[in-house]
Amino acid sequence: KTVKVKVPGTTANCGPGFDSLGIACNLYNELELTLHKKGKLVIEIMGEGAQNIPCDGRNVVWKSIQYLLHRANVEYQGAYIKMLNRVPLSRGLGSSAAAIVAGLTAANYAIGNRFTSQEIFVMATDIEGHPDNVAPAIFGGMTLSILRKDGEPECLSFFPKIDLQLIVTVPEFSLSTKAARKVLPVVVPLKDAVFNVGRAALLVGALCEGKTEFLKHAFEDCLHQPYREKLIPGMYDVFAAAGENGALGAAMSGAGPCLIAFTEKNGDTIGTAMVAAFKEHNVKAKYLLLTIDK
Ligand code: HSE
Repeated sequence: KTVKVKVPGTTANCGPGFDSLGIACNLYNELELTLHKKGKLVIEIMGEGAQNIPCDGRNVVWKSIQYLLHRANVEYQGAYIKMLNRVPLSRGLGSSAAAIVAGLTAANYAIGNRFTSQEIFVMATDIEGHPDNVAPAIFGGMTLSILRKDGEPECLSFFPKIDLQLIVTVPEFSLSTKAARKVLPVVVPLKDAVFNVGRAALLVGALCEGKTEFLKHAFEDCLHQPYREKLIPGMYDVFAAAGENGALGAAMSGAGPCLIAFTEKNGDTIGTAMVAAFKEHNVKAKYLLLTIDK
């Protein structure tokens, strides 16, 4: 039989919540899967990044499908996979998490839902290496995720009481997460950790209580963005342009290079200003006006 799944793109970190906060966006990749006991692998890809995604055994969706089938102890040699991608590739919007979660979820449906969402989450985190993009891709809304001391991920998903618009500026160039993690220090000063702990807590508290007035400083970060600034020309100028045009805050989306601003209104004005600020630094960009996936 053929199964179909739809998985959201995601934005991780949200400023202070490095490797722990994430949001599912209303931008979706669609996947259609038919498994065959025998036969070959056929992959058709349409949309974002179609030319750059391998259509053979190296494909991440297929690898994730095989991962789950192996866990379930069943074997299928072939498959027909059809993907429609809307999440831009390698831009910090969780395209790899979306591919992994789509593969795992579709394979799980295909074999009769043998695994729970938590089990899918454990597998997805194992493949991706960190939980903050796969968590919202699986559970939706805004997610707080941790890795327990035994290595198993845990996630709390909630819907903010503030109707946030997400303005995502997408620069023309891509940036690999690996490269963006390489520039991070192994140890950070205690005062920087304190700076972030307070803001991450304030951000979640304000969103849960619907208190917009506390968001002004809640998106700030000093654990990863200052080190990654050099990878994204004009980053802090783009943040400033968002702020000057009424955004509540702005941050790198995941490991970048997308930059995201948060607001309750005037999303188009803010997006236009952010794109213009990028242009000042010779970076061609567009913006997407998104909301939280429900
Ligand atoms: N939290 C991860 C990072 C997200 O910032 O490296 C990568 O998509």
